[in-house]
Amino acid sequence: MQQKIIILDFGSQTTQLIGRRVREMDTFCEILPYNKFPHNDDGIIGVILSGSPYSVYDQEAFRVDFSQFVDKYPVLGICYGAQLMAYCSGGKVEPAGSREYGRAHLKYIDTNNPLFKDFERNSQVWMSHGDTITALPEGYHCIASTDDVHYAAYTNSEKRIWAVQFHPEVQHSLQGFQLLKNFVVDICGSRQEWSAASFVETTVKELKEQLGNDRVILGLSGGVDSSVCATLLNRAIGKNLTCIFVDHGMLRKNEFSKVMDAYKGLGLNVIGVDASEKFFSDLKGVEEPEQKRKIIGKNFIEVFDAEARKIKDAKWLAQGTIYPDRIESLNITGKVIKSHHNVGGLPEEMNLQLCEPLKWLFKDEVRRVGRQLGMPEKLIKRHPFPGPGLSVRILGEITPEKVRILQEADDIYIESMNNYICEDGESLYDKVWQAGVILLSSVRSVGVMGDERTYENPVALRAVTSMDAMTADWAHLPYDFLAKVSNEIINKVKGVNRVCYDISSKPPSTIEWE
Ligand code: XMP
Repeated sequence: MQQKIIILDFGSQTTQLIGRRVREMDTFCEILPYNKFPHNDDGIIGVILSGSPYSVYDQEAFRVDFSQFVDKYPVLGICYGAQLMAYCSGGKVEPAGSREYGRAHLKYIDTNNPLFKDFERNSQVWMSHGDTITALPEGYHCIASTDDVHYAAYTNSEKRIWAVQFHPEVQHSLQGFQLLKNFVVDICGSRQEWSAASFVETTVKELKEQLGNDRVILGLSGGVDSSVCATLLNRAIGKNLTCIFVDHGMLRKNEFSKVMDAYKGLGLNVIGVDASEKFFSDLKGVEEPEQKRKIIGKNFIEVFDAEARKIKDAKWLAQGTIYPDRIESLNITGKVIKSHHNVGGLPEEMNLQLCEPLKWLFKDEVRRVGRQLGMPEKLIKRHPFPGPGLSVRILGEITPEKVRILQEADDIYIESMNNYICEDGESLYDKVWQAGVILLSSVRSVGVMGDERTYENPVALRAVTSMDAMTADWAHLPYDFLAKVSNEIINKVKGVNRVCYDISSKPPSTIEWE
């Protein structure tokens, strides 16, 4: 039985981070909406309650029936989770002074308490709350304090409840990982068995049971998630999996053939469809970004659908959906941050059931699984690439000629990144989350080449560091690298006479320009 920690999400921005930390200690966890505690799950070994944008006094504040898990499993409340548990058991929570934001130090710590095993005196923690606990319920006692927050942490050892008003999941809480580990490993008894190997073994077994002898269709994009998903399914059901890879004409230079070769090398049963002409003809004259996206989306579904219908007895549609895709679309406060990009709109009468074996994994875990499956490192380390391809990197109308110019510039940039090896032996390509070139085809500027005046387009280089694409920082690429790439692009790519580097972070900008 796979052990798991349940993280109940009360809407905090850092809930995902709690999940990441738990996974970092090789322990499986599920982040679930606060009101969806699972019943009859024998694998649960502990429960963590997240923070929340609400105060316990807010009308719309999220409440939970504690009897579902208190007294059954060890519980750790974080911030709002700590306040709600105290408040609902007869403690007092009141508006706090403005000082309960940012860095603080634990001036008192009960180091005999298992939650604080190996803690240093004065350990730095990160506070972020508008309310504070001013009295604990009976049977509860304080186990840590800062100058401003008396009940920085409390426990009720009989009920196996622990709670902290600071955020152990963020890096500014310097021993936060230690605290979470003390809870997950020492208190809950995690055997720390979650690994890529165990994931592959259990998932292949489950997929065999789930799919039996059914046929499955999967849309490949050339990206890491769909490729890992396909390889996993291939291991489980072999030839009953048919993959479809659509070339919309806006992939990177030679990408279609390179990726097709890689897929065939993996033994996948894959149909490649070159539909670029149809895409380009429908995009003719269209400049507005959303309209371009809609045309590409609609065409994609049509092409995919036509191929999928040829596989007569298919019962399932598999997708490489990963955990952050779902958390972003399912945010419990009701705000859609990013709508899900995968093939969403297949006609309902096809009646395909959805199979998403990677839906609990974070990106780095998907990569670990890919390695475990023996996939080539080049495929595993690929940067994320948007479904609509280079179309979101060409401002204005899309034409085959503009795509060709962008492909050339992009190829120089990406190859140079692969070839630039940093002092620690890692390439620049592997150091960044994502990189690409943007063709500013609606802008022209004057240049001089040899004795001739040019009047051509600029390109912008983009490279960002990120954990999950929700936020991103521009990568500080070395000047010598930028200088070399700029020279090479202007000298070799006809139609480009200027190179800029994008130094915007996300937010307020986005990764793609559109
Ligand atoms: P933005 O531009 O919103 O991009 O900061 C965040 C991440 O999402 C990728 N992206 C897409 N991926 N289909 C995809 O599969 C899309 O339509 C799409 N649009 C953006 C983008 O490359 C970045 O990694």
